[in-house]
Amino acid sequence: MKNLLKGAVTGVWLLLIGMSAAFANDGSKLWLDYQPIAASDALHGEYAAAVKAISYQTSTPTIAAAVEELQLAARTMLGQTPTAARSTRAAAGSVVLAFGRDRAISSLKAAKELAALGKDGYLIRTANGNIYVLGNTDKGVLYGTFHLIRLMQTRRSLAALDITEKPAFDVRILNHWDNLNRSSERGYAGPSIWEWDKLPDTVSTRYKDYARANAAVGINATVLNNVNANAAFITPEYLEKVKIVADILRPYGVRVYLSLNFNAPVSIGGLATSDPLDAGVRQWWKDKTKEIYSYIPDFGGFLVKANSEGQPGPQDYGRSHVDGANMLAAAVKPFGGIVMWRAFVYTVDAGDPMYDRAKQAYLEFMPFDGQFADNVIIQVKNGPIDFQPREPITSLFGAMTKTPLMIEFQVTQEYLGHSIQLVYLAPMWKEVLDQDTYAGGPGSTGAAVTEGKVYPFAGGVSAISGVANTGTDANWTGHIFAQSNWYSFGRLAWNPELTSAGIAGEWIRMTFTNDPGFVAPVEQMMLASHEASVNYMQPLGLHHIFASSGHYGPGVWERIRPGTRPDWVPEYYHRADSLAVGFDRTVKGTDYVSQYFSPLKETYNNIETTPENMLLFFHRVPWDYRMKNGRTLWDEMCYKYTEGLDATREFQKTWDRLEGRIDAERFKEVQYKLREQTRDAIWWRDGVLLYFQSINKLPIPYELERPINSLEVLMNHRQRMSSTSAVPGAPRVEPTSPMGIVQPSRIPPPPPFPQRPRQ
Ligand code: GCU
Repeated sequence: MKNLLKGAVTGVWLLLIGMSAAFANDGSKLWLDYQPIAASDALHGEYAAAVKAISYQTSTPTIAAAVEELQLAARTMLGQTPTAARSTRAAAGSVVLAFGRDRAISSLKAAKELAALGKDGYLIRTANGNIYVLGNTDKGVLYGTFHLIRLMQTRRSLAALDITEKPAFDVRILNHWDNLNRSSERGYAGPSIWEWDKLPDTVSTRYKDYARANAAVGINATVLNNVNANAAFITPEYLEKVKIVADILRPYGVRVYLSLNFNAPVSIGGLATSDPLDAGVRQWWKDKTKEIYSYIPDFGGFLVKANSEGQPGPQDYGRSHVDGANMLAAAVKPFGGIVMWRAFVYTVDAGDPMYDRAKQAYLEFMPFDGQFADNVIIQVKNGPIDFQPREPITSLFGAMTKTPLMIEFQVTQEYLGHSIQLVYLAPMWKEVLDQDTYAGGPGSTGAAVTEGKVYPFAGGVSAISGVANTGTDANWTGHIFAQSNWYSFGRLAWNPELTSAGIAGEWIRMTFTNDPGFVAPVEQMMLASHEASVNYMQPLGLHHIFASSGHYGPGVWERIRPGTRPDWVPEYYHRADSLAVGFDRTVKGTDYVSQYFSPLKETYNNIETTPENMLLFFHRVPWDYRMKNGRTLWDEMCYKYTEGLDATREFQKTWDRLEGRIDAERFKEVQYKLREQTRDAIWWRDGVLLYFQSINKLPIPYELERPINSLEVLMNHRQRMSSTSAVPGAPRVEPTSPMGIVQPSRIPPPPPFPQRPRQ
């Protein structure tokens, strides 16, 4: 009977393998979609022999999570569930999980090697017919286990393993810009995954899956709420709910943090002031922090957006960033918490004709270098403006020598096509991580200075953050390929030296298939996608020419009007007139370049040496300026926009050829979105070129296709946006289904372009 049953199970499993490409797949499993491996595949035998059993010595919730994951992976991929036992003797063919003082570590003589790997590092080694996954902590073992699973998912041999890994940053954190009402600021994947309306009674199964997905890529921290923070999150009513989430994430090593509203002492504490130097306010935060830790003993700390875009902060009381940050740092210090204080500040100086938003963070923060408490870290966006498709690295990196800084990347695609466009962001992040700041001489890259390799920050932590792109859409991120951005943020936070191609390859294999006929072209498409998006939206250093409502389509024609903040308007950034275009940030202009170290400063100050892909960020350039390839600036701009558009058409062709290699559900969904992407690339290309042409009166080179729409039509075109943005004034369009996912079977063809202007 038992054998019969076993036979039946194997039969069903074999059937699954045969049918997997044909099966519907809604993308909900992310990179943990353990695809069955055919028994005829040589690796099946190798893996099955290597993971017959799991043995561990010390049992903790994290070890239990590792065991459960490995069992699930083996069961799904190999059709065999390894037995798991707590024991110091492992039968051959076991995976041995060990940490701390477990015997396996001494018997393998691995203690010394492990000591260099820190709290989260691990060692995977083949010995005595077993695979050992060793860490200093159980978290290290969990990360090592996910590594082992990844090797199987990507069909790598498990023979003779000898791997050591250690993360580059201590804190690898997602920032959810999620609100109490479950909207997500700049979220494009449906309502927030955090069901505040249902917690603490109803607990979504997604919390655990979220924790697994993060642990698999090494993300070990998360801020659950928006930086534009509602103080209610730190009231008992919400702390109850946050506690439940924290309890579920804990075994997976993901620590919970919260964004604070600086005015909470007044708004929820009933105090008369939130002045950080007021003794009553300081005590209030100490008490509040203690209360938070009573719910969440391993609470990570606070993220604060202060005196930025209308948020309250210490300056409201005539105090400084240091006063505010250090007050909170003192409150979390006894519990081992940290304060991530954001440098995203830019106050307009209306009286200064040279006012430059790019300079503001540096001007406000540099004077405070050395004054922040050692558990404060300054969180700085990768570029000096605001998550544009391409910006130079922010000048503050490397400049503050006595204060730890962390890079803030944006995983959600606010300025990169929302969840409509396929844009793989690893190449963009690599540009920043690899950029030499020269802060401590050559080699002081964005990664090195924030890792603490250039200036050792006594007592401080190193960290890196990404604004999350999750929502309740079945596939979590709205666009299946947007999952790759969450994935690669985690991988780069673990190791900034990984290549974009390497990460893309892993992700494709784990998410879709190991079929080389699929992997290679999709990898190429992903790698080309960021440059394509820059080209059809903002090539050559153009920046912030997005429609101010929604940040999706072009808004290059929006003009500065009396009463509007100039630095929220595209005209402020492109400065086009009949003669020239671009923002002069050289020493003759706003002098932003002088915030960089030499020789970067000189490189950017000189129009000849500034990389052409950032030309108009640093220079105001005549339309007839000769580019390196001999074209005029205007002609080159026409070419770049066309190149970007053409690339999206290639993406469509690439994808169309892959039909049948993966499930129809995800295939169709991506196919549909790629059509929308091309449609919107036309909107961008035609719109921007026709607008600039209306100013410079120059012809578009005849070898390039003509715009097919009039400027007026393009200016009035409004794109349907599946945004749940809570930004005041931003368009709110209901998701197409209650879950916010477009069901492929019901996918209509893309609306004709252009749509009729909205009434
Ligand atoms: C951008 C974004 C806002 C966000 C802000 C921030 O300006 O559009 O929605 O609040 O960044 O990072 O604080």
